[in-house]
Amino acid sequence: MASTTPSKPSSGGLQTTTIIAVVVVGILLIVGGIILGQATPLLFPQQASAEAAQVDNLFHIMLVIGGAIFLLVQGLLVFSMWRFRARKGETGDGEPIHGNTTLEIVWTAIPAVIVFVLTILSWQVFNSLQAPKPGEASVVVAGARFNWAFTYNVPLSILGYEVDETLLPPDVKDDLADDGTVSITSATLYSYVNQPVALAMDARDVIHAFWVPAFRVKQDLIPGRTTTVRFTPTVADTYPSGIQCAELCGANHGIMRADIVVAENEAEYNKLLTPILESRLFPPADPVVRGRAILESNVYPCYTCHVLSDLSSANWVGNVGPALDGVADRAATSRANATSQTAADYLYTAIHEPGAYLVPGYGNLMPQLGVPECDVWAMVAYLATQSTSGSAPFEVVQPEACIPQVSGPPGSQPPPAGEATAEAAAETEVVPAEATAEATAEGS
Ligand code: CUA
Repeated sequence: MASTTPSKPSSGGLQTTTIIAVVVVGILLIVGGIILGQATPLLFPQQASAEAAQVDNLFHIMLVIGGAIFLLVQGLLVFSMWRFRARKGETGDGEPIHGNTTLEIVWTAIPAVIVFVLTILSWQVFNSLQAPKPGEASVVVAGARFNWAFTYNVPLSILGYEVDETLLPPDVKDDLADDGTVSITSATLYSYVNQPVALAMDARDVIHAFWVPAFRVKQDLIPGRTTTVRFTPTVADTYPSGIQCAELCGANHGIMRADIVVAENEAEYNKLLTPILESRLFPPADPVVRGRAILESNVYPCYTCHVLSDLSSANWVGNVGPALDGVADRAATSRANATSQTAADYLYTAIHEPGAYLVPGYGNLMPQLGVPECDVWAMVAYLATQSTSGSAPFEVVQPEACIPQVSGPPGSQPPPAGEATAEAAAETEVVPAEATAEATAEGS
């Protein structure tokens, strides 16, 4: 910097006044950087996970360094504009200056050291976030345009009462036989304070990004690969839209959000999961009620791509796929004709193999959602009631294995009927294949 001073050719040694000026400016830059670094985090959301502090500390260091560099660059710019401005009557070119080895070494070495230090610090924080924690809970996450679904494996013991396992639905028995737990799915992420959580995440269609600003974690979901993200919540609270998709994934990317509920302790957490478990153990006997509950639970992303007025309370707002109002009529007429299937089989196929038949005017956008067989049939039973007349224009026969044997645990309190219904939906993950069917009807 000394070399930029005009007139006096520098002759090696720095003058005392120059050294003092450099020291003073350096101190001002550091103080300014610290002030900027302190002020900016005021804009952040609360720190609600054990990881948040480390991430914020690292970011704080970057802000201080970035703030000092910002002040240095802008300060030199303003200083130069004033100090080297064209004086009155001055028309010639400036003094030609070429090369300053010392300066170039300095301005290369300082950033190199900064980047090296930041790399080490970042690596430490990254490793700390990724490291498996003792006793961590595993939750499986499915991301699909445009929603999130969370699957938990829970033991029957959280119910707090005895259940006759011989009367449970066949798929639940299989589940229990595997590892002694039942898998339940919700559109909400549940956890509790100081419980480390590991999410195993899969994308069903395109790349999504799981982002929780309050936890300071973010991780992409990549089709064909399972990615993991870890965190430990520290603040019991409900976080509406606490999860956001941070990767532009299509038309309704903006609504790809989910709530988080962090309970005070494990007992409270179990209480939150109990109704979801009960809805799986004791599903409503009427398949129409069951199917409606599944679709209404928003566990499957159907609502983000289709409109279904009957379920307006569950935010069925999507316009990516065909609207489902009156889908039963179209399934029974135009779609049945176009696919040579019965209306019920057509609806089943449209959910189970979304790409099999496309409704004219709509692309092959619906992902394979892996909806369990019985849930698909329940959805078909419900969709068959979506006709202009209000009653099903065709019959939907439920497979034997999908007919619940009991509607509540013997000798104990059965789940409230309404709750069980709504919860049943949460268990499965399905997508609206029906949309396809409809489009045909509309096209014809
Ligand atoms: Cu998923 Cu954006």
